[in-house]
Amino acid sequence: MRLDVITIFPEYLEPLNVSLVGKARARGQLDVRVHDLREWTHDRHNTVDDTPYGGGPGMVMKPEPWGEALDAVLDSGTERDGAGPALVVPTPSGRPFTQALAMELSERPWLVFAPARYEGIDRRVIDEYGQRLDVYEVSIGDYVLAGGEAAVLVITEAVARLLPGVLGNAESHRDDSFAPGAMADLLEGPVYTKPPEWRGRTIPDVLVSGHHGKIARWRRDEAFRRTASNRPDLIERCDPASFDKGDRAI
Ligand code: ADE
Repeated sequence: MRLDVITIFPEYLEPLNVSLVGKARARGQLDVRVHDLREWTHDRHNTVDDTPYGGGPGMVMKPEPWGEALDAVLDSGTERDGAGPALVVPTPSGRPFTQALAMELSERPWLVFAPARYEGIDRRVIDEYGQRLDVYEVSIGDYVLAGGEAAVLVITEAVARLLPGVLGNAESHRDDSFAPGAMADLLEGPVYTKPPEWRGRTIPDVLVSGHHGKIARWRRDEAFRRTASNRPDLIERCDPASFDKGDRAI
């Protein structure tokens, strides 16, 4: 998969060199290219923003540098087959970023990220590229960040770990919270490892019982309990038919 990020803070994307994403790059599974938006400005001050039409606080990112940058980046690629490039614009006004959306994005051969600072990018940019590409305006949560770069890091990590061969154990994301499957719509329950006793705290006996059926039941109960406590909204929107008798007893 190819990822391009156009930003006024290229150094903000340095974490893409470490850990899971960094390793995926080193292995050639991910081709990440970070670009400085100011390279596509032509004035002495490398201006990327201006005051909003209609007044109001803050500044708006100018369309010209974004247009030139996106044209240059999109023209540099041949990954136009199949689904082609998709433009991802992080914004608090976007659609919520979910595991389902991470999976959808992980199927694309090429993602181009346009993280904004200030009050956002002139709307005409999104409208212009929306005519040629799939544009995803995405929010990573109901809060306002100073810019979209942190959202790019979040989205990239969630997408990269879904790419074939990126996670060591292909089963690792099968039981993730929000993964489709038997525990769909339930959060993952607690996990334990050695030693069997730590600071006087032991582990649940069932986990060393060797009884796979009982372990599965316990995991489901714990997942249900945690979901009911931390995310009652997930239980409420669940299809009641997806619960079994054991769930309802909790
Ligand atoms: N930019 C600022 N806030 C954001 C958010 N919550 N999600 C995505 N991009 C953002």
